[in-house]
Amino acid sequence: MSTQRVAVITGGASGIGKETALTFARKGDQVVIADFNEEAGQAVVQEIEAKGGQATFVKTDVSKFEEVEALVNAAVDTYGRIDVMFNNAGIGGAGPVLDQNMERYDQTIAVNQHGVAYGIIAAGRKMRDLNIQGVIINTTSVFGFLASPGTFAYHATKGAVIMMTKSGALELAEYGIRVVGVAPGAVDTPIIQGYKNAGMIDSMKAKVMGNKLTQPAQIADTVYLLSLPEASAINGSVVMADEGFAS
Ligand code: NAI
Repeated sequence: MSTQRVAVITGGASGIGKETALTFARKGDQVVIADFNEEAGQAVVQEIEAKGGQATFVKTDVSKFEEVEALVNAAVDTYGRIDVMFNNAGIGGAGPVLDQNMERYDQTIAVNQHGVAYGIIAAGRKMRDLNIQGVIINTTSVFGFLASPGTFAYHATKGAVIMMTKSGALELAEYGIRVVGVAPGAVDTPIIQGYKNAGMIDSMKAKVMGNKLTQPAQIADTVYLLSLPEASAINGSVVMADEGFAS
């Protein structure tokens, strides 16, 4: 029996998602990259293909259920199955609680929270219907556990992802589908690079063992490990991939 799997990765055009797509492809899996940034997503496909891997891109806005459902259908149409769903697309928060830009607040909830819920629902239904004992992996954050000023909406969404991981796992266990989470700390991606204030990056590094930013490939490796059958006892849990990030 072939061990090649089909992995769908949202937010796969950049940062953690991109590195995860490269990692799964390097290990021999077929990868479906979903993102609303088509140009960057297609570039990842080309990079994978240039290295002999298999990948395809599906333009997706994860904040729209019908698009996430279409993504899952496209994965099955293209490669015949779906084994791994990595719900990873995310955006930064909407600022301090009393200074919320309400449009940005709604968008943060829509992408970071609803986007993960839609991925669990759409992939879970498909895996159940196809009798595939797959794994759904959700990106939360240390900020799902720890409060820090200025990212009110982001905290709300990342906390929600933790509980959706637990409740999703509880209900999908009867189909042999695992639902797990990964909680990075401070990872060197465009989200962090977007902090114009260098002092903010320094203060994040100072919270981490070794005073450094985590590399996105390290989170990709964690996601890959969580996807393996050898991780079968890890279910409903969030693995801290944060190098000891302290509040
Ligand atoms: P990134 O900005 O490099 O990648 C995020 C990707 O998501 C981008 O390609 C973007 O186009 C895509 N995206 C945004 N909204 C979307 C939507 N509505 N539909 C489809 N795609 C969309 O950021 P990074 O750091 O790789 O973030 C990935 C995940 O990791 C996010 O959920 C983030 O909250 C989480 N995270 C990141 C940390 C860090 O320090 N970089 C720490 C903890 C969690």
